[in-house]
Amino acid sequence: MTAHEETQGTKGRLDGKVAFVTGAAGGLGRSHIRRLAEEGADLVVVDLCRPVDTVPYPLSTPEDLSDAVEEVEALGRRVVARQTDVRDRAALQEAYDAGLEEFGEIHVVVANAGIAPLLVEDRVEAWHDAIDVNLTGTFHTIEVAIPSMIAAEQGGSIVIVSSTAGLVGIGGCSNGGLGYAASKHGAVGLMRTYANNLAPHRIRVNSVHPTGVATRMVTDPSMVEFVAQDARLSEESPNALPVDTIEPVDVSNAVLWLASDEARYVTGVTLPVDAGFINRR
Ligand SMILES: NC(=O)c1ccc[n+]([C@@H]2O[C@H](COP(=O)([O-])OP(=O)(O)OC[C@H]3O[C@@H](n4cnc5c(N)ncnc54)[C@H](O)[C@@H]3O)[C@@H](O)[C@H]2O)c1
Repeated sequence: MTAHEETQGTKGRLDGKVAFVTGAAGGLGRSHIRRLAEEGADLVVVDLCRPVDTVPYPLSTPEDLSDAVEEVEALGRRVVARQTDVRDRAALQEAYDAGLEEFGEIHVVVANAGIAPLLVEDRVEAWHDAIDVNLTGTFHTIEVAIPSMIAAEQGGSIVIVSSTAGLVGIGGCSNGGLGYAASKHGAVGLMRTYANNLAPHRIRVNSVHPTGVATRMVTDPSMVEFVAQDARLSEESPNALPVDTIEPVDVSNAVLWLASDEARYVTGVTLPVDAGFINRR
């Protein structure tokens, strides 16, 4: 009987797998690790755990990361956790290697960490922060993982958390909004190229594109104010399905499917989880 069968009574869709997840202490990342753990995965998780100057809503804290670890351990899974910035490739490699040392192999990568530096009082630094965290951070996350995944010859799955703003032009006019849209489109370029590069090793690479999700990135008063003061952004919100925002688990279920063997021949795909937002445009 696997550990998952002991704790959950059924066979998990990720039994025997280890997942590396960035931005895991809050919002979507917290939901991803819960969902992956429920399905049997052990985890290597990182989070910045401190503010970014151009981000108006609170990012996660060290306490959030400890809580996330406790929650996953309570599901019977093992976790290696580090306070790490995805912009710092050397530190990210160290965190990844600590997980590899503990578990031997890592099969799933979820490049989830991201920021929306949308300031009412716009600053050019917001462009750079969006690109550095969302695009360069995603590049680092995949780069640190590739060598061990190829060497293990077990295949694998890499999932990039992009956005509807990675598929259509909805960034608005601010430095941070343009940086967000550019970074999320850039992530698609990475995804498509890595999908081709890594296919011979049976490593699949896909991206998910959520509409607004009920996390601090959307619900914090600073973000509500930012959207309200830009008429085009407030008009851009409505989904086709009658729901203002979706829940983190809706995105995590898509991540889980892409991570699992159920999606074994799915690669190079941009998967909207968007309540029909893109189709409506
Ligand atoms: N919430 C939405 O509406 C929405 C929609 C589409 C896409 N997304 C994307 O989903 C992902 C998660 O966003 P969220 O809504 O959960 O936001 P969030 O702010 O709730 O969570 C993001 C997490 O990433 C961490 N983080 C930020 N910068 C980091 C860095 N440099 N290194 C490591 N960790 C870092 C934060 O501390 C936080 O725990 C992001 O990539 C975001 O762009 C969110």
